[in-house]
Amino acid sequence: MLYAFELSGEHEQIPRAEALACLDVEGMDYSEHVFFDQCLVVDILGETAQVDEQLRSIADRLAMCHHVLKVAGICPTDPDTIRDMVESTSITGHITTGKTYVVRAKRIKHHTNINSAQLEGRVGGSIYRKGFSADLKNADVVFRLILSEQCVFGSIIASIDRSAYEARAPHKKPFFYPGVLMPRVARALTNIAGIRSENVVFDPFCGTAGMLLEAGLIGASTIGLEVRAKILTGAQMNLEWFDTDHSLIIGDACQVPLVDECVDAIITDPPYGRSARIEAESLHHLYEASFTEMYRVLAREGTAIVVSEMPVEEYALNAGFVIRKEYVQRVHRSLTRLIAVLYKE
Ligand SMILES: C[S@@+](CC[C@H](N)C(=O)[O-])C[C@H]1O[C@@H](n2cnc3c(N)ncnc32)[C@H](O)[C@@H]1O
Repeated sequence: MLYAFELSGEHEQIPRAEALACLDVEGMDYSEHVFFDQCLVVDILGETAQVDEQLRSIADRLAMCHHVLKVAGICPTDPDTIRDMVESTSITGHITTGKTYVVRAKRIKHHTNINSAQLEGRVGGSIYRKGFSADLKNADVVFRLILSEQCVFGSIIASIDRSAYEARAPHKKPFFYPGVLMPRVARALTNIAGIRSENVVFDPFCGTAGMLLEAGLIGASTIGLEVRAKILTGAQMNLEWFDTDHSLIIGDACQVPLVDECVDAIITDPPYGRSARIEAESLHHLYEASFTEMYRVLAREGTAIVVSEMPVEEYALNAGFVIRKEYVQRVHRSLTRLIAVLYKE
């Protein structure tokens, strides 16, 4: 059965990687069917009701996604072709007798200049002719047309509560300190690291605990290390506010007070000497020693994700990591983040 993730346009690759990582965490039997701009279609094997349920629980943890759809059809993004496809497609797996529907179309960037409202009306008419009643305000089933390089038509089975991430914006937390990642980015990285609720997640430069909070909210136990007492108190306030399972330690990321291979994953954004202060003899020493320590405390087959403004390949390789993937995220004209996904064999 085909399912589609309507992805956010925040990054070209991270939303797709996040969705695929969540399918892996959930242990789903799937293959990637096709990937369009902001739309990932996967073919998932299994009993439909159970797959739907698993996708709903994935939607609860996704950050860079809007909706998850059960796909009814895929065709070229052209109004007549779309209408013909809907006319000839069976929608019995999407709506049952007596249930109401609404059709919503989403144009992705420049891929089409179709009039969305007109298309919604035409497709709505096709569904009406199949014997169902529309309800524009309170429909039981929302059919969606994702208008990207191709048109993906399906019914929404789960939607991502993006407002929850806005509500956790750094300045809305009990303790705020500038220069932190937005929760959606922290959550996407948590997901890409494949973190499960039974995992222990470590951030050796935890600051105000933005990374740890997102890992904690999906049920992981978290450990944070921070060199500045005032900031660590702030991290404590933030994590207590959201009631996550956490331990915080004051100390130096160059000498981590943890035993070897005791954490399942690491997600961190070390200071680059710009907004966040470096507490070390030099940036080079901080990176060299902290990467060695990250490698030491991470369990085998564990993932470490490091966000930095400078290339970290050399430090990562010298410490023993394998580089799985690197992403570039342009935040604004003068800030580009490099995101390294590292693996300990
Ligand atoms: C970019 S900030 C991390 C922001 C964090 N992700 C958050 O959500 O607030 C880097 C943090 O590393 C801390 N730091 C600097 N040098 C350190 C060291 N040697 N050991 C541990 N933490 C250090 C800084 O005080 C700062 O809070």
